[in-house]
Amino acid sequence: MDLAKRVDALRAALEEHAWRYYVLDAPAITDAEYDRLFGELSAIEAEHPEFQTPDSPTLRVGAQALDAFEPVRHAVPMLSIRTETDFGSEGAVAFDARVRRELEVSASDAPIEYIGELKFDGLAINLRYEKGLLCRAATRGDGETGEDVTANARTVGQIPLRLRGAAQPDVLEVRGEIYMKRSDFERFNARASRLGEKPLSNPRNGAAGSIRQLDSKIAAARSLSFFAYGLGEIQGWTLPETHAGVLDALDAMGFPVCRERAILHGPAELAEFHRRVGEARSRLGFDIDGVVYKVNSLALQRRLGFVSREPRWAVAHKYPPEEAYSTVVGIDVQVGRTGVLTPVARLAPVSVGGVVVSNATLHNEDEVRRKDVRVGDTVVVRRAGDVIPEIVRVVVEKRPDSASEFVMPKTCPVCASAVERVEDEAAVRCTAGLYCPAQRKQALLHFASRRAIDIEGLGERIIDQLVDGALVETPADLYRLDSATLATLERMAEKSAANLLDAIQKSRKTTLARFIYALGIRNVGISTAKDLARHFGRFDDLVKADEVALQRVDDVGPVVADSIVCFLKEAHNLEVIKRLKDAGISWEEGDGAPSAEEGALSGKTFVLTGTLPTLSRDDAKALIEAAGGRVSSSVSKKTGYVVAGESPGSKLDRANALGVPVLSEAQLRALISP
Ligand code: IVH
Repeated sequence: MDLAKRVDALRAALEEHAWRYYVLDAPAITDAEYDRLFGELSAIEAEHPEFQTPDSPTLRVGAQALDAFEPVRHAVPMLSIRTETDFGSEGAVAFDARVRRELEVSASDAPIEYIGELKFDGLAINLRYEKGLLCRAATRGDGETGEDVTANARTVGQIPLRLRGAAQPDVLEVRGEIYMKRSDFERFNARASRLGEKPLSNPRNGAAGSIRQLDSKIAAARSLSFFAYGLGEIQGWTLPETHAGVLDALDAMGFPVCRERAILHGPAELAEFHRRVGEARSRLGFDIDGVVYKVNSLALQRRLGFVSREPRWAVAHKYPPEEAYSTVVGIDVQVGRTGVLTPVARLAPVSVGGVVVSNATLHNEDEVRRKDVRVGDTVVVRRAGDVIPEIVRVVVEKRPDSASEFVMPKTCPVCASAVERVEDEAAVRCTAGLYCPAQRKQALLHFASRRAIDIEGLGERIIDQLVDGALVETPADLYRLDSATLATLERMAEKSAANLLDAIQKSRKTTLARFIYALGIRNVGISTAKDLARHFGRFDDLVKADEVALQRVDDVGPVVADSIVCFLKEAHNLEVIKRLKDAGISWEEGDGAPSAEEGALSGKTFVLTGTLPTLSRDDAKALIEAAGGRVSSSVSKKTGYVVAGESPGSKLDRANALGVPVLSEAQLRALISP
């Protein structure tokens, strides 16, 4: 066979499969088959160097290390964007007003059409394609001259080495952002920590640092991603009329273009886009620091032009940063519901992600050691979305001499009982169980919480007083409270006392699943409690079940079964359960029993990943459960379907690896009501 033809066919096939895998996230062949094609091409190129071309997928694994990057003068300067740092809607209004003033469009005319995009937090790059082949990738540099990072850019699977489709412009420069997904960042750091290597400080540095390595094998070893958002020089290609048209064309040529983009009219829609994206920000799977508004019509863009290296037709509208610096003023140790001692950093109050943060969990002793957090340290604090604030890293250079190393207490800081290290876990636990007031308080809080027995208004402040005043020891004691007792509590008005008694009264009627969950059995979360209720139907049958019987329940393995048996063996727990029942807690026996054939999804387990177009996580879960299905958090061979939305996580990879069918939200809905 003609070798040149074979080489070309192999390259075309490898690029097609790379596109399917990296851009569409829908591989058509197995990794092993890909490796076989790749191996064949490498072997031919090794024997016949004359066949090597700049678009060969074999270059994706990295090339020989360079001594220095060559400077590249940009044919069209890479500009920056003006930034609106106001975090409300003012930025959008000001931008629209400026655009209309420049274009001499009055407020009574039709609103200007814009496109809203995300402002990706990575490294800007210019990719130059000549006759359809990637020939050079350059960083932005000072906007006029950047650095030639072609070998590194080729290792980014999402960057096409040749353009798809029939249009092969003489020159097409595509601009966009190389970034690192949060999941890839976390995977990288988990591995670095296992190997004792230096972790990356954030995804942005992970991307920028890799692309600036002279040895492209380093970039190849880090999973980087790419989004296209604009153009540089073009020759031999007819421009679409709008920026939206440009993005669609880039998508068709094989570039990843972020789907979170929208055509918007006038300032109100711009501000609404800013707000909506801000809300979804923590679920995106990658970091953004704002949104970008661009005038959609390219003709209007040309009319608007530039001022001092910034286009008048675009603006970045920022969000409050999700990371900030603070100092550690102390490290306290909290005792949780199951007695686990958790170190918590007390911070000098600092605004992060739009909220003032003064505490950050340090999880456990090992975590404190790993991050080496000391009292007095300057630290980077991160708070993304609703996530609990975290210390990302210590700024070691700023450590004062007086900074002291943290030592985990040898006894419980609340009740002074002995602590023990939990086998195979990083946790240390107070051994006093419910005799420890801290654990008692947490157990009561858990019992009263919304998804458990649900006593509205019974919060931390009241529980602290009830336990400290020895008015309540176990959940059963709550049902003996009266208005006279409640009146002795601080800041408890008559009306709130009556409301609380009313809420306690209401909670007597509950469901089996809530009751099981409320008991606070270690390792039994809400979904296991529901499974147990559905499986056994009657509480007495659960009490009688041994470990073998328990493991017949979905998702219950030896660890969970052991926790349940141990809990229900304990005389003290049985006594509390008896007293709760005596106090009138009741549910309809059999209410959680299997709903047999009813429900289109009966017997099927679902796993959710990514952001669905219209349903929130909770809504999707409710929908599935209402149709008789179950929702689990991890993908296994037993998983029926994975429902995937925008920016899915590793669960999608796992589903593909295990051959678990993947559904969109629409397909899920179709399954429920065909
Ligand atoms: S357009 C002439 N669109 O923001 C406008 N830039 O200051 C050129 N960036 O470092 C840029 N997301 O890498 C544009 N959707 C987006 C962007 C974006 C991030 C970065 C860009 C550059 C900076 C511009």
